[in-house]
Amino acid sequence: MTHPDRLECIRCRESHPLEAYDRLCASCAAENVSSNLTLCYPVTAPPDIDCLPNAPNSLWRYDQFLPLDATEAVTLGEGMTPMIPVDGFGHGRIRVKDESRNPTWSFKDRLATVAVSWAKSVDAPAIATSSTGNAGAAAAAYAARAGLPCVVLTYKGAAGAIVAQMRSYGAMVLTVPEMGDRWRVLSAAVAKFGWFPTSPFFGPAIGSNPIGIEGYKTLAYEIAEQSDWIPPDWCVLPVCYGDALYGMWKGFDEMKRWGWIDKLPRLVAAEISGSLTAAMDSKTDMPPIVSRNSKSIANSIDVAQGTYQAHAALRHSNGIAITLDDEHLVRARNKLAIGSGLSVETSSAAAFAAVDELSANGVIKSGEDVVAILTASGLKDFGATGIEIPAVPDVVPDMDSVLRALDENYGYHV
Ligand SMILES: Cc1ncc(COP(=O)(O)O)c(C=O)c1O
Ligand SMILES: [Zn+2]
Repeated sequence: MTHPDRLECIRCRESHPLEAYDRLCASCAAENVSSNLTLCYPVTAPPDIDCLPNAPNSLWRYDQFLPLDATEAVTLGEGMTPMIPVDGFGHGRIRVKDESRNPTWSFKDRLATVAVSWAKSVDAPAIATSSTGNAGAAAAAYAARAGLPCVVLTYKGAAGAIVAQMRSYGAMVLTVPEMGDRWRVLSAAVAKFGWFPTSPFFGPAIGSNPIGIEGYKTLAYEIAEQSDWIPPDWCVLPVCYGDALYGMWKGFDEMKRWGWIDKLPRLVAAEISGSLTAAMDSKTDMPPIVSRNSKSIANSIDVAQGTYQAHAALRHSNGIAITLDDEHLVRARNKLAIGSGLSVETSSAAAFAAVDELSANGVIKSGEDVVAILTASGLKDFGATGIEIPAVPDVVPDMDSVLRALDENYGYHV
């Protein structure tokens, strides 16, 4: 495999050393744009499409395009998730890439496996992350697998189930009152103790660890391979910092340059704040802060400002952003569970709500091939979304009572 030899700013292309994974581009920051660095590899001949090995049965199959070899991976068998056809969304049939099948039940395992493998290879003393949920759970699991301590800074509103999940892996979870406090503490620890950060930890956010973001390229490789190398017209996903959006775009862009695919899918960022939507409309480089009056029930993607990397991925893929509210999310979440048997975290429902909206307003046309990324399992935030779930009715164990209860509570008549 070819090992990466530098990081590069995704905006101005300035080179940075590999150790700069915890920094932004200072030149772009001087122009008030918070720009990521991304891993770069020495130029080689385009890889042959027939070069992909069949093993291991995880995203590490694609290790020749990742920063480490499969033999060095801290792995739990992540990736290689199925694509499931689903009917009933505004568009008709779509395909769902079900990332809830990953080891910690979210797509964040793709980032964590690569980031923690790298941290282990450079002898980092600890993994550290500032996360409300899935990213922290994934970091905690892979740190446990690597035998590394993991510190998770979270905030009081984080979903109980995910915090319990982090702790089950032995992570040291701490809550601080404000988002800004998490970042301040983490910045100091990264500088002082060399803890390996997997999440963003200073603002305006630039996205997560660029080594980990490489893991999201495998979403693109898998989707292309599962589509017989004919990429979908659209790939839709819920967006917070845009790590997966950027990583996926990078993966598709690589395959196009290698001649493996002949077009890029148009990417859709399903967001809560409207920051990326505003940036796309105004053509500004840096997405603006768009404050909301109340918090969204979609905890995992509830940020007031999009990132440069998310905006860049949308521009490069001729993509679009769409802003959704809680009502859209709940409707899509319930429709998917009841109509298709797929239970998703409320944030993940944003992708499905986006397909409905964009099909209704004619942006996504009938007959187009649509892939929606189901980013996390419904058990992650079950009962924590502010939605009333009626109590399960008690019945006496005779048939009359059962039939009456089915009728009265669920409207079901035999
Ligand atoms: C379930 C879920 N979906 C989507 C996202 C968005 O992630 P990204 O930072 O890749 O945009 C998150 C982020 O935490 C998440 O937990
Ligand atoms: Zn730059």
